[in-house]
Amino acid sequence: MREVSAELEACFAKVFPEDWNMPLALLESMNYSLNAGGKRLRPLLVVAAGESLGGSREAAIRVAAAVEMVHTYSLIHDDLPAMDDDDLRRGKPTNHKVYGEAMAILAGDGLLTHAFYVVASLAKDGLLPADAALAIVSDLSEYAGPRGMVGGQVADMEGEQGITDLERLEYIHLHKTSDLIMFSLMAGGRTAGASAEQLEALRTFGRGVGLAFQIQDDILDLVGDESKLGKKTQSDVKMQKVTYPYFLGIEQSREEVRRLSAEAKAAVTGAGLLHTERLLAIADYLVDRDR
Ligand code: IPE
Ligand code: IPE
Ligand code: MG
Ligand code: MG
Ligand code: MG
Repeated sequence: MREVSAELEACFAKVFPEDWNMPLALLESMNYSLNAGGKRLRPLLVVAAGESLGGSREAAIRVAAAVEMVHTYSLIHDDLPAMDDDDLRRGKPTNHKVYGEAMAILAGDGLLTHAFYVVASLAKDGLLPADAALAIVSDLSEYAGPRGMVGGQVADMEGEQGITDLERLEYIHLHKTSDLIMFSLMAGGRTAGASAEQLEALRTFGRGVGLAFQIQDDILDLVGDESKLGKKTQSDVKMQKVTYPYFLGIEQSREEVRRLSAEAKAAVTGAGLLHTERLLAIADYLVDRDR
C-alpha cells in the first residue's frame, strides 16, 4: 500500500500538464483533496490486478491515478451539504469547508473530467494499445456514470428507513461502491491484456470485495474510531441512512463481510491468473480493516 501510494502521488505531481493555463484556486482545491491521503485502495486493486497477469506497472499506475481522481471527486461531492453534509474527510476539513461549495463542486467536475484525459494519454504516450485504452474509457463511463456509481449515489439519496428494503440496499451498495472497485480490477486486467474469462473473474472478485468494503464502511460508521478513519462517525445515523447494520445488526453484518470476502477469493482462485497472492491478501486485509 505504501509503495503504490508513493508511486501514485508521484504521478499526481505531474498529472496536469505544466503549460495548461488553469485558475489557481481550482488547481489548489483539486490538489487539496487528491493529496489528503486516504487508503488508495482502488489504485492498489488496479496494480494488483495488473500484477496478477504480469502487466506493465507504469500503465497500471496511470490507470490508478485516473480511478483515484474519480473516487476523490465522488467523495468531495458526497460530503456536500446537499448530500451527506460532512465536515471531515481524510483527516482534514472537507473540500467545501475550505474552498466553498461552488469551488468544491467544480473541483469534483475537474477531477472527473481529467480522469478521462489521463486514460486517453495511455494510448497517446504508447503505454497501451488504443483498443485497450478505449475499453478502459468505456468501462469507466459505464461503471462510474448513471448506470454505476452515480446511479448508486442517487439510490442512496432516495433511500429511506422504513421504506427501502434490504434488496434495494444491495443495489445501492453494489453501485455506489462496488462498481468503481470492479472497474479498478478490470482496468488493471486490461493493462495486462486479460482475456474475457480473466476479466470476468476479476469482476466477480470486485463485486464481492466491493460489497464487503461498503458493509464494513457502514459498520465503522457506527463503531469505528474517528481518528483512524479521518472522518466523523455516526454520519449514517445523523442522515437516517439505511445500512447493513440497520437491517442485520453489527454481528450479522460482520458475518456478511466475511462471507462475501471468502466468495470473492474463490472467484479468483483457479481462474487462470498467474499470481493471485496479492489479491487474496487484500481481500483478507479488508475484513479486519479499522480505517
Ligand atoms: C470511502 O472510500 C467511500 C466509500 C465508498 C465507502 P474509502 O474508504 O476508500 O476512502 P479513502 O479513499 O480511504 O479516503
Ligand atoms: C460514499 O458512501 C460512496 C461514494 C462516495 C460513491 P458513504 O457516504 O457511505 O461514504 P463515507 O462514509 O462518507 O466515506
Ligand atoms: Mg454518501
Ligand atoms: Mg458520506
Ligand atoms: Mg459511509
